[in-house]
Amino acid sequence: MTKIILDVDPGHDDAIAIMVAHKHPEIDLLGITVVSGNNSLEKTLRNTLNICTWLGVDVPISAGMDRPIVRDRYLSCDGPGDVHGETGLDGHDFGEITAKTTGIHAVEYIIQTVMASEEKITLVPTGPLSNIGMALRMEPKIIEKIERIVLMGGAYGTGNVTPSAEFNLYADPEAAHIVFSSGLPIVMMGLDLTRQASCTQEVSDKMAAIGNRASELFVNLMEFFRGTQKREFGWDAPPVHDPTTIVYLTNPELYETTHCNCQIGLSHDMTYGRTVCDMHHVTTEPRNTHVATKIDFDGFWEVVAETIRRYN
Ligand code: RIB
Ligand code: CA
Repeated sequence: MTKIILDVDPGHDDAIAIMVAHKHPEIDLLGITVVSGNNSLEKTLRNTLNICTWLGVDVPISAGMDRPIVRDRYLSCDGPGDVHGETGLDGHDFGEITAKTTGIHAVEYIIQTVMASEEKITLVPTGPLSNIGMALRMEPKIIEKIERIVLMGGAYGTGNVTPSAEFNLYADPEAAHIVFSSGLPIVMMGLDLTRQASCTQEVSDKMAAIGNRASELFVNLMEFFRGTQKREFGWDAPPVHDPTTIVYLTNPELYETTHCNCQIGLSHDMTYGRTVCDMHHVTTEPRNTHVATKIDFDGFWEVVAETIRRYN
């Protein structure tokens, strides 16, 4: 089993990442850390507690950074609420929250958990990298105890929050720089990959037929997400970005990747927050990132469906 800490900013697709990570037999979900991003930390935390209550996910949940490491606030915090709605997770009636938080800061939780672990831990961030960047700066010793970082973020093609940058990394480029320059192996599920993991009506119908609490949550959230992604980007099937990280851990054979150098644009210009990926190795810079380029669509959704079937 792969021991992971999942760092999220729910977010409809973050919810599916939690759903798959919790029940997949090859994933040992040690804990969930929460970051601001898709919405305020208050909302992303409440959404995480709602998801974990609904799905019966009983792991430590720790709230983290409510803003970027360097800048005063997330530049794009005003924008993305459009695709996730007012609550940041519109579309499902969750009922009363019973899940609790640890009461310690997510950065502390990451450092304590990694340092105490006998085995190396994989970090799986699906939001801005503020918690991960802070942990690497506060306790560099965690580097030798982290297996790798499998993240959703970036793009070697076009962005979604600027023409050049993807939302998660643009929200805190300095944190992303800390992560990509840490020397840790990075696996990057960028938009070029995640846009292939689209939730068609057929996919929703397949999940609806499973008929349990997890499939009900999946269908309701995707119904809402389909509407906002259509309105914002014109897509009939919304890209379900975040669970591509989890399925990569359990079924890497479903992916193609390019091992190359990837650096983060930090100049305050049109490349700010961009993942500059040397896909054709035109430099001699170290190959620090496996950039995912292709996914087996049917295989991916079968792994998600198999995991959803494991819920009552
Ligand atoms: O750009 C896509 C990313 O931004 C996803 O993680 C989504 O949840 C939002 O956080
Ligand atoms: Ca996310």
